[in-house]
Amino acid sequence: MKTFGKMGAVLALTLSMAMLGACGNSNGGNTAATKAPAANGGTKTEAKEITLGFSQVGAESGWRSANTKSIQDSAKEAGYTLKFSDAQQKQENQIKALRSFIQQKVDVISFSPVVESGWDTVLKEAKAAGIPVVLTDRAVDSKDTSLYVTFLGSDFVEEGRKAGEWLSEQYKDASEDVNIVELQGTTGSAPANDRMSGFAEVIKGNPHLKVIASQTGDFTRAKGKEVMQAFLKANKDIDVLYAHNDDMALGAIQAIEAAGLKPGEDIKIISVDAVKDGMQAASEGKINFIVECNPLLGPQLMQVVQDVVDGKPVEARIVTEESTFTSEQAKEALPSRQY
Ligand code: AHR
Repeated sequence: MKTFGKMGAVLALTLSMAMLGACGNSNGGNTAATKAPAANGGTKTEAKEITLGFSQVGAESGWRSANTKSIQDSAKEAGYTLKFSDAQQKQENQIKALRSFIQQKVDVISFSPVVESGWDTVLKEAKAAGIPVVLTDRAVDSKDTSLYVTFLGSDFVEEGRKAGEWLSEQYKDASEDVNIVELQGTTGSAPANDRMSGFAEVIKGNPHLKVIASQTGDFTRAKGKEVMQAFLKANKDIDVLYAHNDDMALGAIQAIEAAGLKPGEDIKIISVDAVKDGMQAASEGKINFIVECNPLLGPQLMQVVQDVVDGKPVEARIVTEESTFTSEQAKEALPSRQY
């Protein structure tokens, strides 16, 4: 558990925070509530309005759009002032946004890091300014975990394993090689690294499962289509496509159809996310298996922010619960899908 809060709070809270190495903000206050004169001459406790600075990766996928909406809606619902910044898939833009949040002295900073590495300097700046940082969706590889309060998001390695387990089961009796092509997410991002390693870890149990080509499609539909076209040109016999998200799978489906092949039949397709468009393709049999990655992190994030501001203990890692869908299950789930 980690504990964070704002300076000037009750002594006990301040002391316990100091012991835990937590940080308050630079305005000298360290409490979520301030004392103000009440009408009857006494004092009343007023909740301080929370300002949250959030730096989003971009708008590269259906998943990301759903995630952004969830965060914006939940911040509104919670009554927080949200300073939202779109990094357009560039780390330098995220670093700039984080520095601007520090300058503006927001209460809490949250971000979904576009890549895993290269955050220590700016995270140290946030810590020095006394602003707690909450990671959402994607992790950083900083060795110093005191630079952030918690990481709220999916277990991407587990998602890769689930994809590999389904495939291993499908081909458990294979007597010939199964040629797999892989569309990776953004190079250096946690979901690309982890979905690749989780998948590889499981399929190595069956020597017939062979990844013959693996390249980034940057989590976008356009790039997924482009890279799949190249895969099809270079490889005559592709049995399986493993795409790290639905958008790339959907782009690849266009390339597969344009090549006169049937997605889901001539080439089996596995993807990750389970956004509506992906589920639609799965219900039509074009995607055979989807591993869910839940983008609706907003409500949980706002709760964590409130707890941090209130100086309450927060788990160091909060993992979101997720499921998987075959084509049949996607057909059933589609009508009630929220995103
Ligand atoms: O970090 C989550 C990943 O980022 C989603 O799987 C992908 O669609 C998004 O762009």
